Amino acid sequence: MQPVVLITGGAGYVGSHACVALIESGYLPLVLDNFSNSSVESLRRVARITGVQPQLVEADVRDASALDSVFRSGPIHAVMHFAGLKAVGESTVQPLRYYAHNLAGTLALAKAMQRAGVRNLVFSSSATVYGEPGIEQLHEDLRCDPVNPYGRTKWMIEQMLADLAASEPGWRIARLRYFNPVGAHASGLIGEDPRGVPNNLMPYVSQVAVGRLDRLRVFGGDWPTPDGTGVRDYIHVMDLADGHVATLRHLLATPPQLLTLNLGTGRGTSVLEMIRAFERASGRAVPYDVVDRRPGDIAACWADATRAAHVLGWRTQRGIDDLCRDAWRWQQANPRGYGG
Ligand code: NAD
Ligand code: UD1
Repeated sequence: MQPVVLITGGAGYVGSHACVALIESGYLPLVLDNFSNSSVESLRRVARITGVQPQLVEADVRDASALDSVFRSGPIHAVMHFAGLKAVGESTVQPLRYYAHNLAGTLALAKAMQRAGVRNLVFSSSATVYGEPGIEQLHEDLRCDPVNPYGRTKWMIEQMLADLAASEPGWRIARLRYFNPVGAHASGLIGEDPRGVPNNLMPYVSQVAVGRLDRLRVFGGDWPTPDGTGVRDYIHVMDLADGHVATLRHLLATPPQLLTLNLGTGRGTSVLEMIRAFERASGRAVPYDVVDRRPGDIAACWADATRAAHVLGWRTQRGIDDLCRDAWRWQQANPRGYGG
């Protein structure tokens, strides 16, 4: 029998790609999502790619009775917890909503897992937990000091999970700190579908290239970086999805433990380098203006990716040209996302 993995937030951007990677690795995803930031269409597309329609429970991750009935419905080997809210700016305006969905959501999930005796959990954390560390290459042992409510929810959840793992034997928990997930499945059938005007670089660049937005604003040309623009570690979302499968396999094959891993490429790319790569991949111009720095940004950061390589034997396979090509294929085939 194929092992079943509960995927909270499995209809979302990272979760839908993880569903594909899991199915292709012999797992059966069972998705729980409230569709607050996604649509059921992403799961239909997962089925088109893999030939397997993930089972779906439409529910809020804070709903204890819905969680209990999911865990009663049959054996669940592990949980991947993607469900949550992720917009930094919005989290400063609606902090309690972020604490409710992210922190209380994870609390409800962990309690339901405890009741059901399911103790294998992979959690989506973020490099945002490091805050503004003042160095560029970020190692897992750095002190965390997040600088916004979204980041604080992730850091509080990480601490809650550490307390849980220490409190009773048997928990296998991975806290995965993603750097900047971008790109799409190579089929162009699933990808990132942000609601409204995108906040993040890659979806904004794609929408400019496809003609949905006029011009990109480059936030700052005077950063202390080689070309003056911000530098980040962009990880292809399928590399990220494969990293989840590698993590799950590792957790299930080793004694109970609490694992904390950066998932990134270990390399930095500037905004201008990304624009040029996207222009190459799409054959379209990406007009831009350099404007003031965005409040809350830092100059440069990238992952120290050595621990994940050492522990999991996993490293990213795809580069900037791959992720621009795949993002463009998705954008071109779905100029209005899943909606049209
Ligand atoms: P997403 O918004 O595309 O996916 C999140 C999914 O969770 C959506 O399908 C949404 O409908 C669902 N959801 C939200 N609140 C829920 C709730 N209370 N109950 C049930 N379902 C709920 O986001 P994503 O980019 O796929 O991110 C997935 C996870 O990874 C999030 O936890 C996010 O914080 C984390 N993360 C994302 C990034 C990124 O850049 N995408 C970076 C670092 C960490
Ligand atoms: C942002 C979040 C971070 C989250 C990550 C997920 C903030 C402050 N941080 O990170 O918590 O984990 O997304 O991917 O929001 N840029 C432009 N023009 C744009 C958009 C971005 O020049 O229109 C620049 C930014 O200044 C930055 C780079 O592009 O240098 C990447 O920005 P973005 O995609 O928003 O990611 P982060 O800021 O790294």
